[in-house]
Amino acid sequence: MTGFRSSVVYQIYPKSFYDSNGDGVGDLRGIIEKIPYIASLGVDHVWFNPFFPSPGRDNGYDISDYCAIDPAMGTMDDFEELVEALGAHGIGVMLDMVLNHTSTEHEWFRKALAGDERYQRYYYLRDPKPDGSLPTNWVSKFGGPAWEPFGDTGKYYLHLFDRTQADLDWHNPDVREEVAKVVNFWRSKGVRGFRFDVINLIGKPEALLDAPEGTDDRAMYTDGPDVHTYLQWLSEQSFGQDADSITVGEMSSTSIQACIGYSNPANHELSMVFNFHHLKVDYEDGQKWTLKDFDLAALKRLLGEWALGMQEGGGWNALFWNNHDQPRALDRFGDTGQYRYESATMLASAIHLLRGTPFVYMGEEIGMSDPAYTSIDDYVDVEARNAYRALVEGGTDPARAFAVVHSKARDNARTPMQWNAEVPGAGFTTGTPWLRPTNQGTVNVEREEAQGRILPYYRRLIALRQELPVISRGAYAPYLLEHEDVLAYTREHDDSCLMVLCSFRGHDTKVPVPEAFASARILIGNYDGNDRIRSSDELPPVADRLEVGTICLRPYEAIALLA
Ligand code: GLC
Repeated sequence: MTGFRSSVVYQIYPKSFYDSNGDGVGDLRGIIEKIPYIASLGVDHVWFNPFFPSPGRDNGYDISDYCAIDPAMGTMDDFEELVEALGAHGIGVMLDMVLNHTSTEHEWFRKALAGDERYQRYYYLRDPKPDGSLPTNWVSKFGGPAWEPFGDTGKYYLHLFDRTQADLDWHNPDVREEVAKVVNFWRSKGVRGFRFDVINLIGKPEALLDAPEGTDDRAMYTDGPDVHTYLQWLSEQSFGQDADSITVGEMSSTSIQACIGYSNPANHELSMVFNFHHLKVDYEDGQKWTLKDFDLAALKRLLGEWALGMQEGGGWNALFWNNHDQPRALDRFGDTGQYRYESATMLASAIHLLRGTPFVYMGEEIGMSDPAYTSIDDYVDVEARNAYRALVEGGTDPARAFAVVHSKARDNARTPMQWNAEVPGAGFTTGTPWLRPTNQGTVNVEREEAQGRILPYYRRLIALRQELPVISRGAYAPYLLEHEDVLAYTREHDDSCLMVLCSFRGHDTKVPVPEAFASARILIGNYDGNDRIRSSDELPPVADRLEVGTICLRPYEAIALLA
């Protein structure tokens, strides 16, 4: 295992990775069976979405027991075997810690509901306003108000997500002790990696107040000053004691300034952060449930600002296009028809050569894309179903509402890993998959291994980060911010300079190449067989491609030049 700056993390959605017992749902034994594949990617850590006991209202993010394994996924013995077997390949386990809220089925909430005051202080319970209205005007991120009656007490409890996900009150020292115990429980099992779910929401103010008319209520509870205090405390009590720990915080609606604080090593908080601004460039007016083509200028600006801002402040970004909450980037920013290979490898290049730690979401490495669903009944996710209902009730034509959900639903990423072309299970299950894959006939691991070019490209990119300090440590600088088609940047370390050029268009486009790169060599590229360069090979010169200091990029071409 290497330090987090030269690491690549692979994300597995356990419910959809590999089903070992034919019940249609992925499990831990299934993951163990697929370790040779995971190891073949060359990744350093695997982040697993939650596989703890849960009623499953939000697919495992509503946890009812933090220190056990969901029986549908396996046993604690399976888990220990998984940690050991991955460890034998030098791969670390990263667990998902959902500590902003518990399921309302969690013992703490049930005791609170039964009248135990100690546990009532674990949650945000509030009286209605004198006029009988809800304690604040906040809305749930999954739709509707963020407050729900607390039994028949007349009080309400806060839930920023589903009504079965009750927010924990971190002001209470007992809550902090409990969450530290959870992290330490998994450390005692050899886990050194942690991903902290929506962790910038734990520092709500003590007095919860209405958002002023016409303002965004998220500002009332996001990135509060206590987040830093609590993270420092948690680090000191738990993961901060491991020299080899790797941590990433999921930061919702955050700022560069806050994220520098969370990830600058001097603050002793986290190794790195996820932010989502670059994945909102296809939202109309910042609203997710809309249809809009992506704005490349905004995408370039945001990736550039974050890369530069975090570098200047000594922070560190987690780099990603995909995860279990996002529709597939290939459908959003690429071309799944004529240019599947080119656009998949271009997107990969753009992220993997940046300053930060890349995350690969399962299936991305074989070019998986959104399922071709035709009915709202194909979707399982509570968020998508709520959004569809809200759109239709709000007067949107059902066909349009469906198109919106089709383009934005989280289930787009949650379909089973496509191991082979079998119908209906895609080699993921011998039973009926819990969520239906649709294009395993053309996109699957077996086919990629035999004749594909996306998977080998990912393997090469992953290996390059470990080989070249200019990738893992080099200074970032934006290049050609005004170019209409191409994302470009340079990296610099000691005597090495890297220039990365990525075209986001399906047509040819010209890019000026500075004199300093005129005699550079091609490190990797997705045209002309440059995807087949191996480290032992002589790198081809870029000179043949240059015409008076200009290079013409072909559709979705990516090329990295090393000088
Ligand atoms: C995070 C998770 C998402 C979950 C939410 C509530 O955003 O990634 O899947 O629904 O937190 O826990």
